[in-house]
Amino acid sequence: MSIEIIRGDITTLRIDAIVNAANETLLGGGGVDGAIHRAAGPQLLAACRDIPEVRPGVRCPTGAARLTPGFKLPARWVIHTVGPVWRGGDHDEPALLASCHRNALSLARAQGIDGIAFPAISCGVYGYPRDAAAGVALAVLAEEQHRLHTPHRIVLCAFDAGMAEAWQRAATRLHVEVADTLS
Ligand code: APR
Repeated sequence: MSIEIIRGDITTLRIDAIVNAANETLLGGGGVDGAIHRAAGPQLLAACRDIPEVRPGVRCPTGAARLTPGFKLPARWVIHTVGPVWRGGDHDEPALLASCHRNALSLARAQGIDGIAFPAISCGVYGYPRDAAAGVALAVLAEEQHRLHTPHRIVLCAFDAGMAEAWQRAATRLHVEVADTLS
């Protein structure tokens, strides 16, 4: 399994699956959610509406993940996950954020997805501090590195340099080998 940290717009990536930082309704929003829906086209919203609610207004609980096609995106699949809203760090935020990454990877394995790109889940509107979120994400990837059948290519796609550097610091801290594609 190779791990890359890149800077860019996740909606442009030619990769099997991109992960969406959604909300529990799965009916779109701003940030990367808005960008993915705009790039995928209206069929994505229709596909999300078809995902059954697990309780009123909730199609994907925080920490869970759901799969849809990518429609007009270059990526074949979108794995929607809902990160925790940062509330200071003692409301299970690290465990919930780790679940987002684990559940996205387990959906990817089940679907035979070979390449997957993650945005910085919860690091925008949901206010998760970057370095803390980066440590959670890299710790999950470190675990996954030793599993069979995990996607062979994992990309961490930062929209800005600050997030890319936070992931890089976490990879160094946790001794996770990362392909150097940022240079
Ligand atoms: N490509 C890659 N990353 C992006 C893109 C993009 N096109 N657009 C935004 N980002 C980055 C942001 O810079 C941030 O680092 O994605 C990260 C996550 O930020 P948000 O999109 O705000 O997601 P999040 O913090 O998880 O909040 C989710 O925002 O858009 C709504 O419906 C969404 O309610 C949900 C909430």
